[in-house]
Amino acid sequence: MSETGVQAKTEPVYEITGGKPVEGELTVLGSKNFATKAMVAALLGDSPTTFQNAPPIGDVAITEQMLMSIGATVTTDGSTVVVDPTTVIRPDVQHPDSASNRIPILLVGPLLHKFERVSVPALSGCNIGRRPVDFHLRAIEAFGGVVEETDEGYAAMRRGPRLQAAHIRLEYPSVGATETCLFLSVLAQGRSVIANAAVEPEILELITMLRSMGAVIFTSPGREIRVEGVERLSGTFTRISGDRIEAASWASLACASNGRITVNGVTLEHLGNFLSHFRQVGGGYTRLESGAVEFFRESSTMRPAVIETDVYPGFSTDWQQPFAVVLTQCEGISIVHETVYEDRFGYLRALSKLGANSQLTSHCLGSLPCRYRDKGYDHSAILSGPTQLVARDTEIQIPDLRAGLAYIIAAAMAEGRSIVSNVALLERGYGDIVPRLSSLNLDIKRTTRPVPR
Ligand code: EPU
Repeated sequence: MSETGVQAKTEPVYEITGGKPVEGELTVLGSKNFATKAMVAALLGDSPTTFQNAPPIGDVAITEQMLMSIGATVTTDGSTVVVDPTTVIRPDVQHPDSASNRIPILLVGPLLHKFERVSVPALSGCNIGRRPVDFHLRAIEAFGGVVEETDEGYAAMRRGPRLQAAHIRLEYPSVGATETCLFLSVLAQGRSVIANAAVEPEILELITMLRSMGAVIFTSPGREIRVEGVERLSGTFTRISGDRIEAASWASLACASNGRITVNGVTLEHLGNFLSHFRQVGGGYTRLESGAVEFFRESSTMRPAVIETDVYPGFSTDWQQPFAVVLTQCEGISIVHETVYEDRFGYLRALSKLGANSQLTSHCLGSLPCRYRDKGYDHSAILSGPTQLVARDTEIQIPDLRAGLAYIIAAAMAEGRSIVSNVALLERGYGDIVPRLSSLNLDIKRTTRPVPR
């Protein structure tokens, strides 16, 4: 309480004292980017769907609130979540109490199959670029909807008694727009084709789930998905696989801190090119008989790398921040060319506070086709190392969810104490992460402090 009797606002921060190898064992949470979409997909069924291994994170809670706002019954028992869509009675999704995420626009498709007019709240999520939803809006129109942006979010209506199949070619293999097309097409009348679709593991898992609900979906080489619309889908049972972004972060933490971390629940196939870059810079991993994977640093001198982020099966944009921390420990110049988002290097400012050497440029430092060529966005980074990171009660403020874990890695490596703020963003994607980090023998404390004015 302040002298004026007004309760001072506080915020949680992490105090991390680093500089030691991080070692231990943990289990990766279920994939955030599949769990939330699977909850949306459950609305398409005419009976309940059960999910196992749902991650206890903010984004799942936000999605749950949105589903409950239209009358869906969502019950949670540990990591098992059941979504019953049979109780849905309202077409207007309310803004969740806590915050929003990227899910609202994905709700339009499933709801338009049920209602003639629907509305969803505005999107939010990480500030890593403009993140427009134009592909989603065009797809909704193509399937027989009319959609407009409102002050609160989006309002859409269906032009006929049923959505109609469509042939869509996405300008870019967007994960979210591919999901919207799948949600629209599975119950639409006729055969749809989604060309230039995303094929991220989470999309393939979603297709598997939709098939098990009764959808008829054909995948083929060349990013083309064909969907034969059906009259009805039923509920199903799905186990959410381990989060491949989180798994890559634990691998990066083990390697960057010269430690050793055994990760349970990881699907190595989903780590694709990450594993090859990881090996090339000097990281190592062993697949254990138990199915877990042990990550560590293999060579005493780490080698630099050139990384270009891309859609799957390329190097995921969500891996680049934790991996960039590893690159600060490599001998020589490393390059990161970000081709998915135009503005995903905000986190480098904090790394430089801890002593990392990096420079940004708007040039495309790579050979992949890039939508940001000559547009003036600082979307390539040059990192030179190795640098011993050092913290002197240095505050680093998390700019986006995935960068959050990169900051934890940097703070764990830095000699001295770091104060990590804006942790709510990290906890939206990783839940109560402090006990898991403590179990890795990391000196971390969650405290609160008055919000700086
Ligand atoms: N894009 C458009 N128009 C659209 C849709 C996308 O221009 O209508 C652009 C985006 O601006 C971006 C690119 O296409 O430059 C790719 O965006 P995509 O739609 O693939 O991203 P998303 O579906 O919004 C998901 C993940 C992100 C992950 C990306 C790329 C979820 C909730 N989010 O986002 O993950 O980076 O795919 O793989 O699934 C995270 O987990 O923290 C996260 C940011």
